[in-house]
Amino acid sequence: MKDVKSYIEKHKDRFLNELVELLKIPSISADSNYKNDVLATAEAVRERLQEAGCDKVEICETPGYPVVFGEKIIDSSLPTVLVYGHYDVQPPDPLDLWHSPPFEPIITATDKHPDGAIFARGACDDKGQMYMHVKAMEFMTQTNQLPCNVKFMIEGEEEIGSESLSWFVENNREKLANDVILISDTGMIANDVPSITTGLRGLSYVEVEVTGPNRDLHSGLYGGAVANPINILTQMIASLHDENNHITIPGFYDKVEELSSEERAEMAKAPFSLDQYKSALDIDEVYGEMGFTTNERNSIRPTLDVNGIWGGYTGEGAKTVIASKAYAKISMRLVPNQDWEEITELFKNHFEKIAPKSVKVVVKPHHGGQGYVTPIDSIGYQAASKAYQATFGQTPIPQRSGGSIPIVALFEKELQSKTILMGFGLDSDAIHSPNEHFGVWNYLKGIETIPYFYKYFSELSR
Ligand code: BES
Ligand code: MN
Ligand code: MN
Repeated sequence: MKDVKSYIEKHKDRFLNELVELLKIPSISADSNYKNDVLATAEAVRERLQEAGCDKVEICETPGYPVVFGEKIIDSSLPTVLVYGHYDVQPPDPLDLWHSPPFEPIITATDKHPDGAIFARGACDDKGQMYMHVKAMEFMTQTNQLPCNVKFMIEGEEEIGSESLSWFVENNREKLANDVILISDTGMIANDVPSITTGLRGLSYVEVEVTGPNRDLHSGLYGGAVANPINILTQMIASLHDENNHITIPGFYDKVEELSSEERAEMAKAPFSLDQYKSALDIDEVYGEMGFTTNERNSIRPTLDVNGIWGGYTGEGAKTVIASKAYAKISMRLVPNQDWEEITELFKNHFEKIAPKSVKVVVKPHHGGQGYVTPIDSIGYQAASKAYQATFGQTPIPQRSGGSIPIVALFEKELQSKTILMGFGLDSDAIHSPNEHFGVWNYLKGIETIPYFYKYFSELSR
């Protein structure tokens, strides 16, 4: 790729300013109060894609938020790269833990990012990483170095389960036809340890409701004689793990892919410091399933976690009450071969079965998705690996991630193509947390590396 470094050097202030403008729009898909902002972000992405050199750019309506689609087809006999990303972001709460407002981006240096990091909700997940692809496209078209066809598909509902995108993909198979899908919505090990994500976990997300008496009761008059839904719910949740931290739902592990000892030994070679991991989180000890390391626990093993739990009186002071209802939101991260709908069913049956007769239980499935693993001998992986070698000067390490992008498995099913996950964020970038940020160096390095993927993918496809 000729002049990529000098092009970035020359335009980096503009590249940063454009991202800052995008980050100012609060595109929170989970909160309907922000509907107009989500729609405005789609429009902004459409304009930026147009400017970057896409020939056809459209806002495609769906039952929910629109998908922004753009393409540049230079020669139908050449391969086509489909770029996926999302323009929606997580809600920023809790707001009081942000050091600067989530939608007023600022750039400051951190330990991990001495050249500065841009702080804003969506900086890393995924506006910053998505926008690297738009700027890489600009570079390739402006310098006449685009070696193949490109399609962009940027959605607005990733953080709420990609329901409309599933619909869009199922209904637009031809429009989306491609040879490889490229996504930057994951992370890498460290700035001096590049890695490529080769796996994502699946997900089953459920909400449970436990009902005791038909109204809130005086905890003195009735306490001890009537089931307290909060006590019962917490007991039921506690029983979902045994003393070795294995999940107790019958059948839960039946289809779990077991890695060979060779594969586990290979995984263990990735650089990792347990002490640094603990000190970064201010914890004295890690926790998890017996028989597995920290990196195994958060990538190749399934988990069950309460994401929120509520009920009863939580206001100021004390109120003596036995609540009528208690609730929890529970996520299960799944690994290859576990089917999310089957796991949701197993959970529901088990949770209903362990409930004592003194309460009623309702399990409401939310969204979910299958896990994903990609081989490292594919042309796509090899092209990505060579791209990192060109810009980082080292071979990237393949690594499975614990996060989920459920739509990736659907891409494989509906479009028959493999996805390459070139993430440039760090785990410490605080995605979904207060003070989310993205390193300026990482942003620019992504823009530099992506064009090489196109080059090597085109060359290797010949
Ligand atoms: N970009 C993340 C997923 C991710 C982050 C994967 C880092 C690997 C490394 C994505 O936006 C996300 O947050 N996904 C959700 C699932 C979705 C269905 C809400 C998740 O993983 O919780
Ligand atoms: Mn994301
Ligand atoms: Mn996310």
